[in-house]
Amino acid sequence: MLTQADSKLSVIIAEQEAVFVRRQPASARLAALAREHLAGGVTSSWQITQPQPVWLSHGAGSKVYDADGNEYVDLHGGYGAALAGHAHPAIVRAVREQAGRGTHFAQPTPDAIAVAAELARRFGLPRWRFANSGTEATMDAVHLMRSYTGRDLIIKVEGCYHGHHDSVQVSVMPSADEAGPASRPASVPSSSGIPAAITDLTLVAGFNDLGRVARLLDAYPGQIAGMIIEPIMMNAGIIPPLPGYLAGLRDLLHARGALLTFDEVKTGLTVGPGGVTALSGVTPDLVCLAKSLGGGVAVAAIGGTAEVMEHVASGGYEMVGTFNGNPLAMAAARAMLCEVVTEAAYEHIEDLRARAVAGISRAIADYGLSAHVVTAGAKGCVVFSPDPVHDYRGFLAADDSLSHAHWLFQHNGGVFLPPWGKIEQWLISVQHGEADIDRLVANFRTFADAIHSLQIFTGKTLP
Ligand SMILES: Cc1ncc(COP(=O)(O)O)c(C=O)c1O
Repeated sequence: MLTQADSKLSVIIAEQEAVFVRRQPASARLAALAREHLAGGVTSSWQITQPQPVWLSHGAGSKVYDADGNEYVDLHGGYGAALAGHAHPAIVRAVREQAGRGTHFAQPTPDAIAVAAELARRFGLPRWRFANSGTEATMDAVHLMRSYTGRDLIIKVEGCYHGHHDSVQVSVMPSADEAGPASRPASVPSSSGIPAAITDLTLVAGFNDLGRVARLLDAYPGQIAGMIIEPIMMNAGIIPPLPGYLAGLRDLLHARGALLTFDEVKTGLTVGPGGVTALSGVTPDLVCLAKSLGGGVAVAAIGGTAEVMEHVASGGYEMVGTFNGNPLAMAAARAMLCEVVTEAAYEHIEDLRARAVAGISRAIADYGLSAHVVTAGAKGCVVFSPDPVHDYRGFLAADDSLSHAHWLFQHNGGVFLPPWGKIEQWLISVQHGEADIDRLVANFRTFADAIHSLQIFTGKTLP
């Protein structure tokens, strides 16, 4: 049964969705046209936003412009790929120059050496290979863990997303009904089309639950190849690891001859120059990168220890792909690493991060909202729960309608946050400025003003 507050929130959402649709007639026309030959009218199922897909015209600096000419501060960042912002001069120059010299040879070009060396310096892992998407990087990491150890089972964390290949499409977003007990989460298929025989090879543990990993290693001696994890969870808002968790995982796994992979596809360059790997001081056996690495061009990387990557070098595992390390991607990644994500850029992002946290936290306090802000470098989000969240089960309990309402208020106010409510985070790029953050904060205040009186949400009611 709907409470009064639920139905008030539904009315607010309906009003905001009406504003959204009114502002975007060209997007509506394109969406209708697209349905003729594009399945679902989009190029990836995650572009089907509510109330309708937003069709973009172009991006420049910290802004994107929709097909209707509306301007947005872009904090969607292409699901975390636009750390350089849009049309960054260094990326444009690198891509333009390489395009004029040929975009694909399937033979290595010197930029690959420079990119691998810079990644080795930042992440403390000596050997690298390249791919084209985060999915490919984590697929290779899982294959490599299995091939290197000669074992079939892997462990993944409930609520972590690692791309859309079979082995990791397990317990990404299970419902409370199917997830099983917290101490023994079930392996729940996250997509249709995945054979049960493959799902069964992926064992699931809660984030921050070292005990479960220890018990799995005991229950399957000599059978677990390794574990893949987002070292800061970023497909469930933002959930940081508790002190000692990442080091504890590494030690437990290594004691049993199993490997540890950090999926830093999202966290990679965004939380700091060397990802969570450098921040935490815990160096895993393998690291996966993608998203921001190419400054907006598709590229992924897999880094590893000398021992594990020797298995690739010697042909024990063939890591292959027609477009792997293509010259266009390597030129863009080189410019990104050497010219865009500099020390000064990280200082600038840190100033903006602090400004966003201060402004939104002030609004939360002023309006007495049961919410808090979580950030990690360039990434951040508002969690609509009063308490810190430590795992997927805590995340599941937070209210999604409020996140959707917040997204709509931001969008209608000229800030493009990533859609999908409470799952995603903002991304501050090197090209954002104070005025961009101030627009985010101002919109948050408008949202807070509209919803603060809902009893389900507020800790206290304003006089
Ligand atoms: C942590 C993580 N790993 C892997 C992926 C898959 O990357 P891609 O969409 O480039 O295949 C994603 C995508 O969102 C991700 O967030």
